[in-house]
Amino acid sequence: MEVIIRPTTAQAVELTARLLADTVKAKPACKLGLATGATMEAVYDVLVKMNKAGEVDFSQVTSFNLDEYIGLGPDDVNSYRYYMNHHLFDHINIDKRNTHLPNGLAEDELAEGINYEADIEDAGGIDVQLLGIGNDGHVGFNEPGSSLSSRTRAKSLTPVTYRQNCVYFNPPESMPKRAFTMGVGTILDANRVILLITGARKAEIAARAIEGPVTSMVTASALQMHPNTVVILDADAAAQLT
Ligand code: F6R
Repeated sequence: MEVIIRPTTAQAVELTARLLADTVKAKPACKLGLATGATMEAVYDVLVKMNKAGEVDFSQVTSFNLDEYIGLGPDDVNSYRYYMNHHLFDHINIDKRNTHLPNGLAEDELAEGINYEADIEDAGGIDVQLLGIGNDGHVGFNEPGSSLSSRTRAKSLTPVTYRQNCVYFNPPESMPKRAFTMGVGTILDANRVILLITGARKAEIAARAIEGPVTSMVTASALQMHPNTVVILDADAAAQLT
């Protein structure tokens, strides 16, 4: 696990975006694993600027997002499909037919997970997986206690995650309590993983994930076992690293 600390959030974001862009430049038909959440908004802003400036071409890229709320359709403003269109896909030259998220309205939850895994495999696997970390140490929505060999499936969200994300919902209680998420095993299968952690509120969980024991109670810690993971932090998020 490579750990890179940048003084400011903007510099951490810039580096993350540049590593993703470099992947696309080196392999135009690459498969990107993408994340949502507040942390990623700035990364996508930079990628949109790079695309508009002609610095990176997404026309051959295929993407797979980590997760989607169960019960939310693509037009719901709180769905991750809506987030991805709004923050990235609508503003770059990616072919939306090549962008994938779990279907939050799938009736057969078991089949949805199996099919999503099959789609990733059929695409040849993920070249680079972008990740953020939740306040409870989750990657994707792999909440504490998730098996470190888990695959895409429906998962109940913890109260910590509920508190973290319900602020985006109106009313807050309308936030779904469950989501589809790639598993920890799915994430570990990516050739390369980039985990971006910013802000003081993530400092404690960042230290546990990077320097603590590998444990299913902090699923991000499983990345310590991945041979090609880079963790990018700003100074605030890195404050509790030894
Ligand atoms: C989102 C996801 C989550 C977030 C995490 C951090 O697709 O998989 O693991 O990356 O909850 O969210 P923010 O950036 O909002 O703190």
